[in-house]
Amino acid sequence: MRWMIAVALLSLVGCKQQSSEPQQQPAGSPPAAARKLTIGFSQVGAESAWRTAETKSIRGEAEKRGVELKFSDAQGKQANQINAISSFIAQKVDAIVLAPVVETGWEPVLTQAKEANIPVILVDRGIKVSDESLYTTLIASDFVEEGKMAAEWLAKKTNGKARIFELQGTTGAAPAIDRKKGFEAALKNYPEMTIVKSQSADFTRAKGKEVMEAFIKSDRENIQAVYAHNDDMALGAIQALEEAGMNPGKDVTLISIDGVKGAFEAMIAGKLNATVECNPLMGATVFDTVAKVRAGEKVPKFIQSKDQLFEQSTAAQVISSREY
Ligand code: AHR
Repeated sequence: MRWMIAVALLSLVGCKQQSSEPQQQPAGSPPAAARKLTIGFSQVGAESAWRTAETKSIRGEAEKRGVELKFSDAQGKQANQINAISSFIAQKVDAIVLAPVVETGWEPVLTQAKEANIPVILVDRGIKVSDESLYTTLIASDFVEEGKMAAEWLAKKTNGKARIFELQGTTGAAPAIDRKKGFEAALKNYPEMTIVKSQSADFTRAKGKEVMEAFIKSDRENIQAVYAHNDDMALGAIQALEEAGMNPGKDVTLISIDGVKGAFEAMIAGKLNATVECNPLMGATVFDTVAKVRAGEKVPKFIQSKDQLFEQSTAAQVISSREY
């Protein structure tokens, strides 16, 4: 019995000695476990309430997990994002999170990231690249589906007859392209629903108001419905309609996308008719995904957020549970 205990003790000492053996580290760098994970996040800007909620979610989650987040606000310019990504690469971050302003023009800088072995996680907007391996995954909503949901709801509300004025998002941005595509695809089944005018208002409330004012000036009698690619533009349009003495939510049916608090308030006030949610609370998914990628796990190329449509009838009940 005594010899068995002695053997067990010896083997424990052996294990300890093995695990305390110094690891191979590059000269001057702290051990991997002691080093904080560093992630570069290139954000589009702060054009909408939705965008602010997304930034808050990713920043908050980084803080919770003790991740060092290098944040860069591109102020709506792709050139600023390209500079930020180059700088993240130079700083040897562990991963790059990119919310791309537009779909195209990413190959050169993402090739640099790939060559530096830095995974790139796209959030909320997709890109068009000749080589899909330039990014690891996209965490986002299905924008085409959102556009379809908006059109189907509007068709039901208007019995398939409406003269529609469309406020598009930023030109060249995935949500602007795909929300238009999905909406138009669904309209094919409703020949008496037509888009009379369609213009970009850059996802902002101020431009939504400005473009709506121009629509009212040229087509006042014609405006039956407004489809806005985000809530902020719809809220700007509501202001323009009211200032012109019109009755948003009653004479003019409005539907938009995002599901921000302001949209719920406008629905409760009877001025916005419906909103299709697009969930910006992706912080936890982003860092879970980064962890999986770093552990060598394979992740899907598209990680889809789930969305739903909200109308005036339930707005008052659900507003208190809305997180953004
Ligand atoms: O990419 C998501 C879109 O960008 C949101 O719908 C909009 O509000 C934002 O600015």
